[in-house]
Amino acid sequence: MTTAVCPGSFDPLTLGHVDVVRRARTMFDEVVVAVARNSSKTPLLTADERVALARAAFADLDGVRVEAVDGLLADFVRQQGASAVVKGLRSGADFDAELPMALMNRHLSGVDTVFVVGDPALAHVASSLVKDVARYGGPIDDLVPAGVGDAVRAALARTGGSAR
Ligand code: PNS
Repeated sequence: MTTAVCPGSFDPLTLGHVDVVRRARTMFDEVVVAVARNSSKTPLLTADERVALARAAFADLDGVRVEAVDGLLADFVRQQGASAVVKGLRSGADFDAELPMALMNRHLSGVDTVFVVGDPALAHVASSLVKDVARYGGPIDDLVPAGVGDAVRAALARTGGSAR
C-alpha cells in the first residue's frame, strides 16, 4: 500500500487544499492530511478546530485520514511509513517557498516531496487571503468547505482578528 502525507497549517482549510488532497488520493492508496499543531505562524483557529474541520471535510473520501502533527514533519512521515509528501503549487512563488522545505524534509527523512498543480480556478485561494477577506467582513463561504466559514468568523470574533 502506498501512503502520502499532505501537510499544512490549514488555517483555515480551503477548497484549494481539498483539491490537492483529492488529486493526491488518485496517486496514492492512502493520504494522511497532517495538521501542524505548532505552526511557526500564529494560527487563527486552534489545532483542535483545524483537525475537526479537516475531518469533516474529508469524511466522505475513502483512504483519507486526518492527524495532528507535533514536532518535525520528517519524523511523522517516517512513522506513517509514507513514500511521499504531497504539496500543491499555485505559482512559482509557491515553488520557491516549498523547495527548501522539500529538500530539508528529504535530508531528514529520505522521503521525496511530490508537487501537484492545483485547479487553476482556485489559484487565488490562499488561507492568508481567506482570513483577510473574512476579517473585513467579505464573503468566504465559496472558498472553503462547509463549516469552515462559520469557524473562521467565530475565531475572528473571539480573538479580535489579531492572528495572521
Ligand atoms: O500550510 P503551511 O503553513 O505552508 O505548512 C507548512 C508546514 C506545516 C507543512 C511546515 O511548516 C511544517 O512541516 N512544519 C512542521 C515542523 C517541521 O517539520 N519543520 C521543518 C520543515 S522543513
